Amino acid sequence: MLNEEKIIADWSADMYEIDETGTEDVEFLLSRLGAEPKHILEIACGSGRILVPLAKAGHTVVGLDMDEAMLGKIPAKAEGMSNITWRTGDAIADDWETGYDVVVIAGNFLMNIVSEEGPERAQQVLLEKAKPALKPGGMLYIDYNHTFYPEQWYVHPGERVIWQGTDSHGTRGRMLLCDSTYDAATGLIRSTRRYELETAAGEKIQKEMPSVKHYVSLEQIYIWLSEGGFRIEKEYGDYAGNPIGETTGRAIICAAVTEE
Ligand SMILES: C[S@@+](CC[C@H](N)C(=O)[O-])C[C@H]1O[C@@H](n2cnc3c(N)ncnc32)[C@H](O)[C@@H]1O
Repeated sequence: MLNEEKIIADWSADMYEIDETGTEDVEFLLSRLGAEPKHILEIACGSGRILVPLAKAGHTVVGLDMDEAMLGKIPAKAEGMSNITWRTGDAIADDWETGYDVVVIAGNFLMNIVSEEGPERAQQVLLEKAKPALKPGGMLYIDYNHTFYPEQWYVHPGERVIWQGTDSHGTRGRMLLCDSTYDAATGLIRSTRRYELETAAGEKIQKEMPSVKHYVSLEQIYIWLSEGGFRIEKEYGDYAGNPIGETTGRAIICAAVTEE
């Protein structure tokens, strides 16, 4: 029988590799970490786009992600390196290892958490889990897409092609995001993700998956960080180091573990 889930996961991992080739965020993170080697946990490390360069820069890194197809991209990039490990796991439901200098939550994971908990509670749990994973004096690094005008970013009637192409197994097709809406009262962003694929053997897959994300305000993040035992040390709105503002597109937050 056709394993649609695996075919979609393999195709998506290849499309991610082809499309997401940015390095600005990685370079900015490296500059914040400094030269001294650190012990780093990256939550939702995916295909290692961030994790591998951190290891190449001399840090000892551990990655956690729930998607085996994404994690499957790491070995080829990390060949011969002994300071990088990764494992499959659910960042919200599973325990994290402890004793880290830095926990990294980047690559927009905060907006893309898949969890039984629902998107808002999952964001909160994520931040709650960071402090116990860190050593005293440790740092939580968060980097996600941020706007003061979510209704302008997230409302898109109709269809948009997000990925299109052929993967390494010969599966070809596209993934579309359909009818994205934003509810200001709940902060929920709803859309449908549609996969239209055809395998190398000619099998056709058409699958629609509902997607619910949560727009999180900076104020909410500040409250969760404070409740989670963190003090914000630095924050930036882009990779040029500008403050978060009307025209910057990110929230990059360095938060330190507070003393008990
Ligand atoms: C946008 S990708 C970011 C990957 C990587 N951080 C990067 O910047 O390239 C989001 C990743 O989050 C992972 N993910 C989503 N929900 C997760 C969860 N509950 N636990 C672990 N990983 C999760 C997905 O599998 C995916 O690899």
